[in-house]
Amino acid sequence: MAAIRAAQLGLNVACVEEASALGGTCLRIGCIPSKAMLESSERFWEAREKFASHGIQVGELKLDLATMLRRKDQVVTTLTRGVEALFKKNKITRYTGRGRIDGIGRVLVETADQLLELQAKNIIIATGSQSATVPGVSLDGDRIGSSTEALAYSEVPRHLVVIGGGYIGLELGSVWRRLGAKVTILEYLDRILFGMDTEIAAEAKKILEKQGLEFQLGRKVTSARVKDGQCVVESEGHEPVICDRVLMAVGRIPNTDKLGLESVGIELHKKGFIPINEHFATSAEGIYAIGDVVAGPMLAHKAEEEGVACVEYIVTGRGHVNYDTIAGVVYTQPEIASVGKTEEELKELGTDYRRSVFPFRGNGRARTLGQVDGSIKILADGKTDRILGVHILGPHAGDLINEAAAAIAFGASSEDLARTCHVHPTLGEALREAALGIGGRAIHI
Ligand code: NAI
Repeated sequence: MAAIRAAQLGLNVACVEEASALGGTCLRIGCIPSKAMLESSERFWEAREKFASHGIQVGELKLDLATMLRRKDQVVTTLTRGVEALFKKNKITRYTGRGRIDGIGRVLVETADQLLELQAKNIIIATGSQSATVPGVSLDGDRIGSSTEALAYSEVPRHLVVIGGGYIGLELGSVWRRLGAKVTILEYLDRILFGMDTEIAAEAKKILEKQGLEFQLGRKVTSARVKDGQCVVESEGHEPVICDRVLMAVGRIPNTDKLGLESVGIELHKKGFIPINEHFATSAEGIYAIGDVVAGPMLAHKAEEEGVACVEYIVTGRGHVNYDTIAGVVYTQPEIASVGKTEEELKELGTDYRRSVFPFRGNGRARTLGQVDGSIKILADGKTDRILGVHILGPHAGDLINEAAAAIAFGASSEDLARTCHVHPTLGEALREAALGIGGRAIHI
């Protein structure tokens, strides 16, 4: 995004990428392949669990995992080629190799057969992140793996243990559960989805449990290893869990190693992040950093916003990201989406707020979909009525949240949302009902 926007703004742009395909973690081994697998596994699960209620009878249901994986790979290939085409269209020079800063304005690129030197007035570091692990667990790239392996298991594990009840744990745990695995999620905290609204996360946990995901909370995993052909996962004060695959999903760490940052005097934050100012500028002249290598949520759309704002600032002197509008979405069934402040954050800040919760069972479209689990929570300022946070657990929450983000971006009040006509019958009406609820005027509850 940063490269394309920079080219649009008339800069001469080069992009150094060591992977053979463009698109970064999200497109190659993250968001896109995981969503493809979530989609396919949901079809399989629906055919097994839901079709009968729609009056659709299917014969013997069989899983063809190889085709499912191939489809996922095709989706990824189509999109990475699309990025390549966009690079060509925007005349961006692409270098395949590892880049390293070698002083102000200088980047060395180590390709398969040579060392190139590039000179640039402005350099943006957007090297992303990699899976974190815990001491005592070393990823073996196979049985004890990260999300990369869990996107391509060649057969459905009998028992998959997921370490970490966050975004990746819930999404990929759901994929393999739907395809028939026993899935146990070991989470260190006494809740899942740390950082999301507590009430919504607790409701999500109950729904996911009904789908067969097993949660063991308060489990601090200390080791995972393969022994006698089985994986053994140990956690402090508890019996070891035996399984046949382990997915490590305890967060990610920024890729800031071996970038030559010392050559320009950039000192890392203790968690490995690159410190920047409000314009994404590092302490070194002409060197900027965006995305997972700087503080904030490790989300592709946050990185995109920053990339665009960064180049707009470089070229025009203006460029800004409104972090209050950056939503997070967990693509389980139902989806879990959140934007703005959580209720806990508002309490902590001592903000005077009003809340309203509208359940999807009061929404006609949700009834027709047969997806009535979940609810929408709106938090609005007690005095000004300005929307401060929206939290959705329910069908298509990831799409619905964009309207909430737009409302926050425009400084809308709950009254603004409540007075906006919403199409009937749509899921969006539930958002309006939640907004009406702030003034005690929800209709369908
Ligand atoms: P996460 O930060 O969402 O969750 C990690 C979980 O692991 C936390 O709940 C933490 O308490 C737990 N944990 C840490 N140490 C542990 C231990 N020793 N034993 C047991 N539990 C432990 O990280 P996750 O799921 O790995 O995702 C990584 C990043 O990727 C996230 O920052 C997320 O933003 C991003 N992502 C976003 C997606 C999306 O937007 N839909 C999908 C997948 C990932």
